[in-house]
Amino acid sequence: MSRRPRLPLEQLAPYLLTVPPLAPGPSGRPAPAAPALLDWREVFGNDHPVELEVGFGKGLFLLTAAQTHPEINFVGVEIVRKYQLFTATRLAKRGLHNVRVACADVRLFLPCCIAAASLQAVHVYFPDPWWKKRHHKRRIFTPEFVAECVRVLRPGGQLHAATDVEEYAAVMTALLADQPALRPLPPPSEKEPLHDLDYLTNFERKFRKQGKPIFRMRYEKRQA
Ligand SMILES: C[S@@+](CC[C@H](N)C(=O)[O-])C[C@H]1O[C@@H](n2cnc3c(N)ncnc32)[C@H](O)[C@@H]1O
Repeated sequence: MSRRPRLPLEQLAPYLLTVPPLAPGPSGRPAPAAPALLDWREVFGNDHPVELEVGFGKGLFLLTAAQTHPEINFVGVEIVRKYQLFTATRLAKRGLHNVRVACADVRLFLPCCIAAASLQAVHVYFPDPWWKKRHHKRRIFTPEFVAECVRVLRPGGQLHAATDVEEYAAVMTALLADQPALRPLPPPSEKEPLHDLDYLTNFERKFRKQGKPIFRMRYEKRQA
């Protein structure tokens, strides 16, 4: 983690998306204490399309994407609070208005807070691989997660994912291929970075500098 100090909370507030406490209900299904579906017009004050990044870490993707595409609203969800505040600081320092960051577990955030067909894209870059077999159940990519992605995407919306772990890539691809509502698209090609921040994410930069192969996936939700 960089030692750059984070800005005071009051300066970060415009970037922080507050979600109510979310917990699995008695049936094991996610249940917020009160209705919690986010209204994007209320959040952003406009009707621009919305894209979600899951597990944004230090926020490089959100930073670049929000700067490059002011006509799109970006939302990030990250389970670690210090990354939420770190990324909010980076966004606030650049005065970006089209991005918000939430601190929540995506496995609860998607079903509790995101309305059906309300997103133009979902981005999942370098999800934790949880190397040990007995820890695989902690992985984000599960049949339930993929089904939730399909639910929240609008028809024609896209799911973008990448990992450096070949075995996890095979699992992710199989789960995505299992969804009849999704059709595979050619993955984006790898371009040479022009400077040290010209990478998709912080983890992409780390792995490409190590010379590791990156496995990329792109799917589109079929029109109904
Ligand atoms: C390996 S890091 C990748 C970070 C970033 N996407 C990148 O490529 O630089 C995985 C990130 O996912 C976050 N994460 C893990 N489980 C999560 C969950 N259930 N909900 C939201 N974020 C999660 C972790 O805290 C971590 O920041």
